[in-house]
Parts: sequence; C-alpha cells; structure tokens
Amino acid sequence: DGFPASRLFSQGVSYTYDDVIMLPHYIDFPADAVDLSTRLSRRVSLSIPCVASPMDTVSESSMAVAMASLGGVAIIHCNSSPALQASLVRSAKSRRTPFVHGPSVLSGSDAIIRTFDDILPAVVVTDPEKVPIGVVARSDWERLENKDVPVSAYMRSAPPPVPAKYDFEEIAAFLAEEKLDLAPLVDEDGEVVGVITMEDIERIRGFPKLGKPSLGRDGRLLVGASIGTRENDKERLEQLVKAGVDVVVVDSSQGNSVYQIEMIKHAKKSFPELDVIGGNVVTIAQAQNLIQAGADGLRVGMGSGSICTTQEVCAVGRGQATAVLQRSHRMPKDHDVPVIADGGISNSGHIVKALVLGASTVMMGSFLAGSHEAPGVYENQGGRRVKKYRGMGSLEAMTKGSDARYLGDKLKLKIAQGVVGAVADKGSVLKFIPYSMQAVKQGFQDLGASSMQSAHELLRSNVLRLEVRTGAAQVEGGIHGLVSYEKKPF
Ligand code: XMP
Repeated sequence: DGFPASRLFSQGVSYTYDDVIMLPHYIDFPADAVDLSTRLSRRVSLSIPCVASPMDTVSESSMAVAMASLGGVAIIHCNSSPALQASLVRSAKSRRTPFVHGPSVLSGSDAIIRTFDDILPAVVVTDPEKVPIGVVARSDWERLENKDVPVSAYMRSAPPPVPAKYDFEEIAAFLAEEKLDLAPLVDEDGEVVGVITMEDIERIRGFPKLGKPSLGRDGRLLVGASIGTRENDKERLEQLVKAGVDVVVVDSSQGNSVYQIEMIKHAKKSFPELDVIGGNVVTIAQAQNLIQAGADGLRVGMGSGSICTTQEVCAVGRGQATAVLQRSHRMPKDHDVPVIADGGISNSGHIVKALVLGASTVMMGSFLAGSHEAPGVYENQGGRRVKKYRGMGSLEAMTKGSDARYLGDKLKLKIAQGVVGAVADKGSVLKFIPYSMQAVKQGFQDLGASSMQSAHELLRSNVLRLEVRTGAAQVEGGIHGLVSYEKKPF
C-alpha cells in the first residue's frame, strides 16, 4: 500500500508538504507517551523540535526566553549591530521566566511619554546610574488628560525589583508577599531587564504546563544567534560568545559558498566548544561541503518560506518536502548531522511531515510571528490585530543590513528576495506551541512512532508509506463545502 519515501521522492518531482500524505500505521501507545525530544545540532539537545527563525520580526530576547522555556530555542537575528545583538543574548541569558515584558526604560524623571507600546504594562524610569526610581503603569498613563507632562508628575515610586534569576514560583511569591501588581526585573548588575505583572502570573497559571526547558552548559536558558559571512562577522561572533551564546547559525540563503565555508572553519577553530549550524542547503552536494567544513547542524530549505520570493526571482530552490527528504534520507549515515527543516510550516501537520521525512527540528518564521513574544507592536488593520512580518531579503530589511544573507553588495543594486507583510495576532507562544506539540504527538501516534528516533526508523526501514495528493485530494483534505455559520441568539 502506498510508496516508500525513497521511491516516491526519486521521480524528478519537487514536492512540498501539502503534496504528500502519509498512510497511518499501527497504534500501541497513548499520544502522551510520544517523546518529541531531539537534537538541534551535534551537541545541543531540545525537548521539543521547535526553532524560531533568525528574523528581525521573530526572534529577539522575549522569543528566546519563551522558546527555551518551552524546550525549544530561538536564534536571535543579526540584522542589528553586534553590540545590540549581544545585548539581546545577554538579556535572554539573564532570565529564567518567559512572561516578562521586554525592558522599556526611560532615563530621568523629566522624560515625557507620548505613545505607549500596546503590549507593555509599564515603563520603568531610572536615574542616570540606571537605578529604577519610578514606574509608569499603562493604566496611569491612559488616564492622563494632558500627556505632555514629565513622568515625575504622575509616576509611582519604584517598587522593590525582582531578581531576574528567580523562577516562576519565586517571582509569584515575591509579588504576593510585597503586595505588588507589577515590578521591574533586574539582572545581577542591577540593570532593568523587564517588567513583570501579577496579571501575567495569573494568566500563565491557566496555560498548559511548560515542558523541560532547554538549558545551555552554563545552566541558563539556551540561546542561539545568527551571524553573517562578512569579515566583520568574526567580531560579531566574538561578542556573541562573550554574551554567552550557546549555538550560532551562519545565515545565508545559499550556504554552499566559499564565504560560508570559511566562516564555519573560523568559528570551529576559534570556539571548538560552540556548535555551528550551516545552511541553507537543499541538495546533498551542498550539505556535504558544509559538513566537511565542520557544520554541526544543517538548515534545509530555499525559497519555501512564506515571505520568500527566491524561487521566483532567482529560479533556484526546491520543494520543501523533497529538500528535507533528500538531505535526511540519502546522506551517508556517518554524516550524522541533524537537519533543521526551515520554512513553509503553517500547521502542525507540516511539522509532522518535516520530522517524519527526516528533519530533527523545524524552523519557523510566520508560525511564530504575530505572537506576543515576537518583536514589534500590534496594529489594527481592517478591524484585525496584526503584527508586521517581513522577509530578511525584503528591501526594507536589507536596508537595515541583512543584505549579507543574500550576498548583496552595499554599493550595487539590491534585489529583493522577500516581501513585507503582516500576520494575525496569535496570542502567546507559551499557549499555542504546547497545543501544536500535542497535535504533533497525535500525528506520530497515528504513524506508530513513539519518538523522533522511531519516526526516522520508519523512514529508513521503508515502513513509512506515502502518496502524492491530487489537487482535488488536497481540497478534500482541507475544510470544504461549508458556508460560514453564525450562531443565532435565541
Ligand atoms: P516561514 O515559512 O516559516 O519561513 O515564514 C521562514 C524562513 O524563510 C527564510 N527567509 C527568507 N527566504 N527571502 C527568502 O527567500 C526572504 O526574504 C526570507 N526571509 C526569511 C528563512 O530561512 C526563514 O527561517
């Protein structure tokens, strides 16, 4: 019944996730028994197979803390100065709880607040030595009739700060004991790294339980960061390592280049303990070059991302299911380098397919953008709450510096390989990632795979059977034949 992947994917056709469907196998365990723990790279383990993309509308400190708390990881983008990127890594490394609002700090009590970021509950006011002297709660600011007055006129005196090293229960106990509704969170140097509210604590108590967090060798939350392939990225790498980064991703849309190979060799030679992930690749030859250079993990995908136009602009790339399968299934076994299936994930079924076709993790941009933890502010567009999401190859992002990813030359014309758009508000990743992982476990259960290893074994042993779906079968597999239903009040 059906075809083994080795046969289905060797017909010269580029398939993506929606083109194929996997046939169910035999169930002899409950879905909760499925173990999704996996490897990001040779020496970095995760308890869920989720990685946030190194994009400036996806991964900064809040996403890094949330993803690591869930057992995954985020790769903090490099579309900023090395110093700023290193400070984002440092800020994420200093925290143990994922529900802290990013540090919004005003220096001096004569500052004036004219706009208030709509996800921030408060702004911390500090003296020139960065010591908190007051807080402005959003509700206090909203009540002001004249907003053109300095914060000293209406700020509350600074509540006692909460040490950033406290975990969830310690923070909850601290706020309850001090009878606080909000407090600044400070790191070991007394610097404000965020704001925490009692409302968040109560909200998080209603979320699914967090799994085992991802930790680095330093015992702190695991944080990744991306670097480019230019000469000055060597300096960036050094700053990231000093900030405590656990794993780096060399970020190129076409990774099989002399520039990336040199950067991987440099990183491995300078920091042998650091895992270095290479990419992106979609063919075996590309992958082999990066593995030979010393890559500890591979990012697979070219032009499959939701904001990508590479395949249309440059005519190169590959259907994502074929790319993942080719790289995972057809590589010699001694090349045991975990694969990150990067791009094109828009539902939990895509995650199941990527993992069963041989990936060890999935990297996601649009799936996580629009969440509470993604950078940026929510905007109201046509009655919907949305957040901006943009390709790192969009002109807008490249103008800020990400043209290195596309080997752009600062002096020449820039060719866009991505677009700018927006995605709907999805709430917190702390809520929807656990639900998505439960769905992935049910997919594994239907296939008879109780772990990542057993899923890969199904593939290797040809027990996994697949078929290509026709256009009509794809329509049938989605929601169809319904008109929208509005409940009538009786
Ligand atoms: P999703 O589908 O998760 O894809 O939104 C995220 C991945 O897309 C890649 N990426 C780009 N690819 N042009 C491209 O061709 C771009 O502007 C661009 N920006 C990001 C990247 O691999 C990311 O993880």
